[in-house]
Amino acid sequence: MFWQRIRWLGFALFIGMVVLGASLWQKLLHPQEEIAQADAVPTRDYIVLAWNDLGMHCYNRDFQDLAVLPPYNTLWAQVIKTGDPPQIVTSGITVTYTFPDNSYSVGKSNFWDYDLALFGVDLPPNVGLAGKGLAGSMDLHDDHFAAEGIPLTEFLDSDLTNPYPYQLAEITVTDQSSGMVLAQTTAVAPVSTEMNCDDCHHDGGVEGIATGRVETNILTLHDKENQDEYPPGLTEPLMSRRPVLCAECHSSNALGKPGIPGIPSLSNAMHEKHAEEVSNTQEGCYKCHPGPSTLCLRDVMSTEHNMDCLDCHQSMETVAQNPNPWLNEPRCDNAACHGSAYQQDQALYRLSKGHGDLYCAACHDSPHAIAPSREANDGIKFIDLQGYNDTLEVCTVCHLTEPTGGGIHGGSLDDHLFLPLIDKD
Ligand code: HEC
Ligand code: HEC
Ligand code: HEC
Ligand code: HEC
Ligand code: HEC
Ligand code: HEC
Repeated sequence: MFWQRIRWLGFALFIGMVVLGASLWQKLLHPQEEIAQADAVPTRDYIVLAWNDLGMHCYNRDFQDLAVLPPYNTLWAQVIKTGDPPQIVTSGITVTYTFPDNSYSVGKSNFWDYDLALFGVDLPPNVGLAGKGLAGSMDLHDDHFAAEGIPLTEFLDSDLTNPYPYQLAEITVTDQSSGMVLAQTTAVAPVSTEMNCDDCHHDGGVEGIATGRVETNILTLHDKENQDEYPPGLTEPLMSRRPVLCAECHSSNALGKPGIPGIPSLSNAMHEKHAEEVSNTQEGCYKCHPGPSTLCLRDVMSTEHNMDCLDCHQSMETVAQNPNPWLNEPRCDNAACHGSAYQQDQALYRLSKGHGDLYCAACHDSPHAIAPSREANDGIKFIDLQGYNDTLEVCTVCHLTEPTGGGIHGGSLDDHLFLPLIDKD
């Protein structure tokens, strides 16, 4: 009797292990399917996907002397009614945004003391150059909603001293007729002042110039080097015309400023002049792009495939020769990278769409934050939608029933086409 029981117990244990083993195998063989079934996605009538247009936005810490870039973050969102098939919704709804712990900017940045001098507009407090504040409604642009130029700073209301580069925006979709909340999400608005010009242009640094501030050291040097070439009407030294907008003379597509013919674009001028001053490494780029503390490149290609700035942008010299800075950038569908199977329909990733009218960034997130990102904040929205942090890949987040007709990019979900060529590990 006793031995029989033990034998039964043993048999039951054996069966249990077989079942467990088989399901583990299943998990290993079909991780996505397993996860999708295990964490049954809550069926929602509507979902909203939101992201920042750029993977990082820089602005100057202090505007009293000069401005390279103003505070200016841009959020995009697409609203989807789940179903068979899912539909992108653009009417009958209002899409709003807030930063729950970042509700004001005046006092966190002196931008509003110099907006008139720099940009020729006297903006109301906490309002940005495109008319948006730190909370408000997003505007419909054809197939998506956008809030352009939110004047976001790197400081939380609850901590005015430590920069917090991965700020959280809350996006809410409301039904215009019933006033009911249809969907909500949390997206990152990345922001930083970590342009470390002071590494070199500190007092007594480059050419020994010491005026008391990094910015005035830079302007003094610029006057010394170029004043005899300043264009008619602008021949005064920059030092006596403060605050100076660099894009007054050097064109900048980031600001939509045409500059003055004959003077190189700001991007060309900066990268050309500094090409010999910084090393052609990610560390070199982080001298001016945020930066050794912010580490704005946080995407899956950097964390899992060891890629850095140079792998996509090449050298300082190459960046310095960009004929159309900001509008001519690396492409995912470059033959040396992912190739034509992942074709962009626009020159820029951030403007490209795939899978119906969904933007690439709706599923993959912002440039430099391609999911899964290193930063937990970037992952919040993906975890909320599909239970874990990765590219939005669970079909039933949008489709009511599992679609049968192939994967998002034509092939099946298991076709991972990351070419060994660019996998540096
Ligand atoms: C790694 C050191 C380093 C960093 C970081 C750096 N600079 Fe420079 N910069 C230099 C040196 C060195 C020169 C002078 C080069 C020369 O004379 O050939 C220079 C020159 C300049 C000039 C004068 C160009 C001219 O000919 O008129 C400007 C303007 C300037 N830097 C702006 C900046 C700004 C703005 C930043 C931050 C976004 C910055 N630099 C960051 C080292 C640096
Ligand atoms: C009044 C017009 C004017 C303004 C404003 C101005 N620059 Fe310049 N800058 C020039 C001119 C002119 C040159 C010389 C261009 C040349 O050599 O072809 C120059 C050269 C430079 C260079 C060196 C380019 C090279 O390859 O030698 C850098 C870097 C630079 N400027 C950065 C800046 C920055 C940063 C600001 C804002 C703080 C700024 N400039 C504001 C007119 C201006
Ligand atoms: C000395 C400072 C400095 C260094 C070093 C630097 N950048 Fe920049 N970069 C800038 C500034 C300033 C701008 C903004 C110019 C504008 O507003 O148009 C910029 C803009 C850019 C842009 C957008 C405009 C364009 O040309 O498409 C790219 C891309 C870029 N940098 C890549 C890099 C890479 C890659 C490295 C390292 C290899 C690097 N930068 C190193 C100062 C720097
Ligand atoms: C995996 C490829 C990749 C890597 C690595 C990468 N970039 Fe980019 N970068 C891009 C793409 C793609 C764009 C264009 C994005 C778009 O459509 O706006 C871009 C755009 C930019 C821009 C212009 C602003 C923007 O978002 O459009 C700057 C500045 C820039 N990169 C700097 C850097 C720096 C600095 C590094 C390293 C710290 C870096 N990039 C690493 C692919 C990369
Ligand atoms: C509806 C969500 C969605 C959209 C929109 C989307 N993708 Fe994807 N993408 C995925 C998923 C899920 C995968 C992984 C499965 C696969 O390869 O089909 C993927 C894979 C990729 C890969 C291969 C990554 C790897 O690990 O090999 C690239 C590159 C890519 N997408 C680029 C793009 C580009 C460019 C666009 C816009 C033109 C875009 N995607 C639009 C969801 C999306
Ligand atoms: C972010 C939302 C979203 C996700 C996630 C998503 N889709 Fe779609 N899908 C759409 C939209 C929107 C359409 C366009 C419907 C239309 O054309 O009317 C669509 C259309 C399709 C179509 C063709 C139309 C149809 O429904 O028969 C197929 C097939 C499809 N998706 C397969 C997939 C597969 C497979 C996955 C998961 C790997 C997936 N989708 C994930 C939003 C999504």
